[in-house]
Amino acid sequence: MATLQVVVTGGAGQIAYSLIPLIARGVVFGPGTRVNLRLLDIPPSAKALEGVAMEVQDSLYSTVLDGLLATTDEARAFDGAQVAILLGGFPRRPGMERGDLIDKNAGIMKRMGEALERHANRNCKVVVVANPAPTNCIVLASHAPSIPRKNISCLSRLDHDRMAGMLLHEANRCLSGTPHGPPTGGGGGSARRRPLLGPADIRGVCVWGNHSNSQVPDASAVEFRVDGRWTPVSSVIRDTAWLNLSGSGHERLDADGEVVLGLTEAVRGRGAAVLGARKLSSAMSAANAIASHLADWLVAPVQAGSGSDGGKVAVVSMGVMSDGNPFGVPEGLFCSFPVRCTGNGEWAFDEGFLLKEEAGHQLSLSVEELQEEKAMVAEALGDDACGPS
Ligand code: LMR
Repeated sequence: MATLQVVVTGGAGQIAYSLIPLIARGVVFGPGTRVNLRLLDIPPSAKALEGVAMEVQDSLYSTVLDGLLATTDEARAFDGAQVAILLGGFPRRPGMERGDLIDKNAGIMKRMGEALERHANRNCKVVVVANPAPTNCIVLASHAPSIPRKNISCLSRLDHDRMAGMLLHEANRCLSGTPHGPPTGGGGGSARRRPLLGPADIRGVCVWGNHSNSQVPDASAVEFRVDGRWTPVSSVIRDTAWLNLSGSGHERLDADGEVVLGLTEAVRGRGAAVLGARKLSSAMSAANAIASHLADWLVAPVQAGSGSDGGKVAVVSMGVMSDGNPFGVPEGLFCSFPVRCTGNGEWAFDEGFLLKEEAGHQLSLSVEELQEEKAMVAEALGDDACGPS
């Protein structure tokens, strides 16, 4: 099988440092696909990039890696690229919103679009991670007109996975009757406990909209597999206000008097919470989400499990360009939607996913924000390449 040409920008950065081992161990493109990895970064990071390359060599990733290039030369990095993972950009600092990066990163995305257009394979698959990711996609796409629009995506899988993780945590807490703190499960103790629900025991998660505080984590279609049966979310987590199914934001106090955010606020604020705690943005979880996004899209999509949806590919959240799709988001905007992937580079909107009234209202606010960002970026670049808003 031919070797896959993969470029990662921001190659010396935090996310790349967590992502490279996943690529090199075959977690992203499959253990049978050999990868020629090109790591690109800016000249001030050249030394750090050299160090990363040394570590890759020292890790003896011999079965999947079929060549490594660490470079600051865009032409070499993008030459014939079949997959482009765009991590490079000015990072968010504590106290900043992702939208504050528009001016700083628009120029970088323009260059990346031009590099794709000049050097990459015409069928290159792209995932933009640098923030603000959906609006960066608009800039990138408008400077890479030969790359099919459906090939350009941005990461909302991190939001999706955060939401799934919080729902699982809460479901396990409810099922085990734990008043607060981490749920317990599995062995230990004399009483036989139900095993904890894991990622294969949840489906129907969707995050709509911008990768920002306006994103819409929508739990209305979520089901858990409890004792082998797919069960609606509200039969497991009875606090529907926490779930935001009623549309009202909700906070409650735990047994220690600590504020527990409602699901929507918690998912929206998770990036900032990690940033506040680590003083660095999420990297390990971002790399993992990129791996899942690409593996679903290009290799083998996650299955929805047994039950009514059994044998079907699972719905995942993915930032893609709207074509005036069934959910009514204006054409040309990049936005997170529920999609089903095929595993061979195709994806389709999940037209059966119901956009309920409250989520629809919240999505329209997020879309307004996306339109404002699009206008800002057009102004920052002083060009009309982003098209009409
Ligand atoms: C995230 O969601 O963690 C990333 O987009 C980084 C950030 O600035 O929040």
